[in-house]
Amino acid sequence: MADPIRAVQAELDDLTEELFEFLRIPSVSARSEYAVETRAAAIWVRDHLKTAGLKASLVETDGHPVVLGEWRGAGPDAPTVLIYGHYDVQPAEPLELWTSPPFEPEIRDQRIYARGAADDKGQLYLHLKALEILLRTKGTLPVNVVVVAEGEEEIGSAHLLPFLERNRERLACDAIVISDSQMFSPETPSLLFSLRGLSYLEILVRGARSDLHSGAYGGAVPNPATVLARLLASLHDDRGRVAIEGFYDQVVEWDAATREGIRALPFDEEGYREEVGAAELSGEEGYSTLERLWIRPTCEINGLLSGYTEEGAKTVLPARAMAKVSFRLVPDQDPEEVAHLLRRHLQRLAPTSVVVDVHELHRGLPWRGAPEGPFFEAARSALARTFGSEPVLTGEGGSIPIVSDFERVLKAPAILLGFALPGANMHAPDEWFPLPHLELGIATLIRFYEELARTGD
Ligand code: BES
Ligand code: MN
Ligand code: MN
Repeated sequence: MADPIRAVQAELDDLTEELFEFLRIPSVSARSEYAVETRAAAIWVRDHLKTAGLKASLVETDGHPVVLGEWRGAGPDAPTVLIYGHYDVQPAEPLELWTSPPFEPEIRDQRIYARGAADDKGQLYLHLKALEILLRTKGTLPVNVVVVAEGEEEIGSAHLLPFLERNRERLACDAIVISDSQMFSPETPSLLFSLRGLSYLEILVRGARSDLHSGAYGGAVPNPATVLARLLASLHDDRGRVAIEGFYDQVVEWDAATREGIRALPFDEEGYREEVGAAELSGEEGYSTLERLWIRPTCEINGLLSGYTEEGAKTVLPARAMAKVSFRLVPDQDPEEVAHLLRRHLQRLAPTSVVVDVHELHRGLPWRGAPEGPFFEAARSALARTFGSEPVLTGEGGSIPIVSDFERVLKAPAILLGFALPGANMHAPDEWFPLPHLELGIATLIRFYEELARTGD
């Protein structure tokens, strides 16, 4: 019978063209004007699951549909693997900073450039293709497979948890497999031991009824921009720690082995600094860069808006000031509790001359995985065989809020193996995915199933 890995190599040109077709669909979940295209991406995934030989359908929600695929050919006694990915992408703006248009994929220097190439359409495609090629060449899989592809990951997955809870039995599985992250370096694949959680809030400070002449009124009327600046400045102390009372109370110290593992990684601090282009790196005192990114919580101002910001000068006393602030969280912090602590902090400090409102935009629990078990081992060995070096254990500063919910609701471990590379420009202009990882990613996933077949014997 045909060798599936050979099939991948033989079909590489067709695979690239097919992935391009997927990437050309502007499935920007955040924008209502792209609702039809976002749905088109869901239909594209469903149709590819069907072609691969899975039963597949769109499950409607109050938002973008969930694509559900199932292959139960291994029988009720065989384990079940659930594959999760997202077909939605972040907005591509600012468009003028892209070298080639975001929804017209292009290969340059062995990289596929397009919005979603790395996050996450390119990586979801690897899974669809591995299943298709295995079913075509072998006619079977060693495990049952459930695919859940959502279209709202980039806007907070509001409708996915209710979907999981409604379908707990149907989605029952022994492991959840996700490719929506990156490798440690081009030579070194990785498996994740953590993702940070997220609490994303908007702070609105209101003063006068409307904008006022800053000379005629300034000095006698509260300035919301000044108040907001002081409030934002109070969020950190001068050692880079978050200065909100109680913020660190639930943070658990990591085990010595994990911290030792992080320290042992060959991380190029200066190369990282150069890549981001800042004069110096900065963060919480007493922690290395990787620790700051992976196992420590943060508070970041993501956006600021107030007063006159166009060309030239306009003497105006703004009526409002707004900031978007996000906290990245680590176990066992809870986004709801963090939102509460922020509200209390602002209430204590804000003068009574203004009104301060806090709206929650996103929340997600942090995730900490147990790097063990047959599925983890199968992934480890598949990565090692394909990339020629053992994967390292890494954390991840970004968030995939549904991962903790998956583990809790389905009572199965999540395995996160990503194929993007550092500097992939996720959410930024010129997002890219390494062209060679199209082949290597599919090959890894094929070997993952082969390993599972072996352990099942
Ligand atoms: N795939 C990313 C998370 C990620 C980023 C993993 C970088 C590994 C490396 C995911 O799509 C994402 O962007 N998550 C958002 C969550 C939010 C929109 C609720 C994030 O981390 O900001
Ligand atoms: Mn993603
Ligand atoms: Mn993303």
